[in-house]
Amino acid sequence: MTASNKDLFSYRLHGGNIHAAAQRLNCSSSHLLDASASLVPWTPRFSRSFHGSIRDYPDRSYRHLRALIAQQHQLPLALVLPGNGAAELFTWAARDAAATGISSLPAPGFADYSRALACWQGRWLPQSFLLQCAAPFPQSFRSPPACDALWICNPHNPTGQLWSRASLEPLLQRHRLVICDEAFLSLVPDGEQQSLIPLVADHPNLVVIRSLTKLYGIAGLRLGYAIAQPERLKRWAQWRDPWPVNAIASAMAEQLLASPAKYQRWCLRAQRWVAKEGAWMQQKLSQLPGIMPMPSAANFLLIHADHSLVPLREVVEQRHRILLRDCRSFEGLGECWLRIGLQSRRNNRRIIRALKQELDRAPLA
Ligand SMILES: Cc1ncc(COP(=O)(O)O)c(C=O)c1O
Repeated sequence: MTASNKDLFSYRLHGGNIHAAAQRLNCSSSHLLDASASLVPWTPRFSRSFHGSIRDYPDRSYRHLRALIAQQHQLPLALVLPGNGAAELFTWAARDAAATGISSLPAPGFADYSRALACWQGRWLPQSFLLQCAAPFPQSFRSPPACDALWICNPHNPTGQLWSRASLEPLLQRHRLVICDEAFLSLVPDGEQQSLIPLVADHPNLVVIRSLTKLYGIAGLRLGYAIAQPERLKRWAQWRDPWPVNAIASAMAEQLLASPAKYQRWCLRAQRWVAKEGAWMQQKLSQLPGIMPMPSAANFLLIHADHSLVPLREVVEQRHRILLRDCRSFEGLGECWLRIGLQSRRNNRRIIRALKQELDRAPLA
């Protein structure tokens, strides 16, 4: 497959598009509750101003930031490359994937991988798999025979399923390149144990991509990083803009990652929130008429119905100023699916109240 006009316009359906929604609703974005993006609902406090960071160019090698990320994962510095969000790093991973051959994209899956492949005229084949709820990656999954590269996401977006490392490892033998998106992994209780990062040193065909934007609720800042073998990362560094991570983002990330103990405490807080609010939302959503929530290990929940959920999403947006994730941009999902990002208890209640009120007013049919 290659990009079509429909793919280009599907950005309208991407989550986290709060500014477009505010324009549509003719209100300020601060009046909206955005559950279409999946971020922790609190943000860090910074202990100093970053004004001083803007006069000089950033350090082109990002040595200090890379050292802190490397320390977090107990890796050599050379295996780390920071990026302008995970999204920027998908673009470079896609250049490698396009040169490797055809990519296999498990479907449903995150649409940004095909956006990145389209930048390089890369070709891909969606490979659907059952929306099952078991922890191991489905052993029945086989990339189409022509595929050399595989893109996986752990925990999987949009289902929230956490795959075990043991079930992912065999995929490295079957593909010339495996790109594993772990953007949400640090938010998952006990998720780190399933990370593929410890396998990178022994597998030149593995790239792991992480994001800090979900964990810290700093999507506007744009911060992610890739873990891969140095030859690959050096190649990417030569392709990209000279200063892809701006000095403020870099300085803020350095402060966030300065203390491993503080980072661990932050992750633990996020994971406790996911466990508590995830279970609460599961229970409340399952009590709504006609709504079936999928089990999820992550900070978002996929819900399903036998009828289209588009009218419900629209009315919740218009009447309640709450944004839910339309799932039509996920290959293999259609109108009968929505994704909801977990919020604070107060705002989760607000979401449930709005859904209940609208379902009572107009049951799904
Ligand atoms: C699975 C997944 N990976 C990566 C990203 C992008 O992360 P970043 O904000 O770091 O570019 C998203 C954003 O929605 C996502 O859902």
